[in-house]
Amino acid sequence: MPNFPKKLEKKLQKRRVENAFRELPQKQDLVDFSSNDYLGLARCERIAESAQKLLEQSKIKQHGATGSRLLTGNHPLYYDLETHLSDYYASESAVVFNSGYDANIGLFSSVPQKGDFVFYDELIHASIREGILMSNAKSYKFDHNDLESLKSKIKNSLSAEVRNPNTEVYIVTESVFSMDGDTPNLKEFAAFCGEQNFHLIVDEAHAVGVFGKGLVEEFGTSDAVFAKIITFGKALGCHGAAILGGKGLKEYLVNFARSLIYTTALPPHALALILESYAFLDENGSKRREQLRANIEFFKAEIQRLNLADSFIPSDSAIHCMLVQGNEKVKKLSKTLNQKGYDVMPILSPTVKIGEERLRFCLHSFNTKKEIENVLKTIREHL
Ligand SMILES: Cc1ncc(COP(=O)(O)O)c(C=O)c1O
Repeated sequence: MPNFPKKLEKKLQKRRVENAFRELPQKQDLVDFSSNDYLGLARCERIAESAQKLLEQSKIKQHGATGSRLLTGNHPLYYDLETHLSDYYASESAVVFNSGYDANIGLFSSVPQKGDFVFYDELIHASIREGILMSNAKSYKFDHNDLESLKSKIKNSLSAEVRNPNTEVYIVTESVFSMDGDTPNLKEFAAFCGEQNFHLIVDEAHAVGVFGKGLVEEFGTSDAVFAKIITFGKALGCHGAAILGGKGLKEYLVNFARSLIYTTALPPHALALILESYAFLDENGSKRREQLRANIEFFKAEIQRLNLADSFIPSDSAIHCMLVQGNEKVKKLSKTLNQKGYDVMPILSPTVKIGEERLRFCLHSFNTKKEIENVLKTIREHL
């Protein structure tokens, strides 16, 4: 085996010393408080069966996409799915990417140009940060969910001297933050962007499905949003993502988003699953959402009853995080819960800031009240 570079080994060693070393976990049969399968669609046999039927009806026999979407990979289900998505989300266009990671890298690396400005929430997902870094635009982060902080960053960095009629400004946030579960006041962000003629971009990965068509729509801000990212690997229970926006944006991404162009497309089976998941949601989405909502409300009532609420970040979404300072401490608590049969993941620094390590609960429509009651009781006993 060739030598492993010493400087890389040193970095790994640092991770071990800081108790932040990552390993791929073995899948265990525990009560699920950690997957993104919020509505249980990933384990729904009916969706799998109807996806298979759809492939048969469409006479699609190939299991691989065979090429990039711009070459041989753009099979007819792409057209069906993108048409469905633009109708469903009342968007002029939709472009499907292989994952949310790819969608964000493609969008943010290609859209903001040299001379443009991007202002993004400090807790934005890694894929957005990395996409922005790959662009030639100037970028600044603002305090989490804080419109005043955004305004002051803009005031300090976007003076009349640097701004010219060609300068475009992009404001980026998420509708449900993946590591906090909270939500910005999208109405205020949208109004501000509208007044200033800035482009608002919202990642809805953890909102679609959980909040019906997402929070951009629920807040009545669809018309004010330049682009919206939705992903299918979370509440939709499949894989892939889409960017929704105007026709011009779609044309642009097809021409310039390198993570769309230089990669093999999704296999037909993946698209059939997404289409069938949407069909399933049409029929059963309200019921599953009601079950999830009841579990969220019950979870919140239980953390109050057990005097744990002060350690939790306020959230109305399916993600609830309990701050437990220090990698060692949060890992230990997560391990205790695992041993009692509950899968609750520790989120370590540097994924979050030092001192903001946390236990992250993902709630689902299929969790039972007893499971919620018992997992929180176990935490209470171990604090
Ligand atoms: C906010 C957000 N955007 C994008 C992604 C990436 O999506 P995907 O898992 O489809 O690559 C994630 C995944 O964790 C996310 O939380």
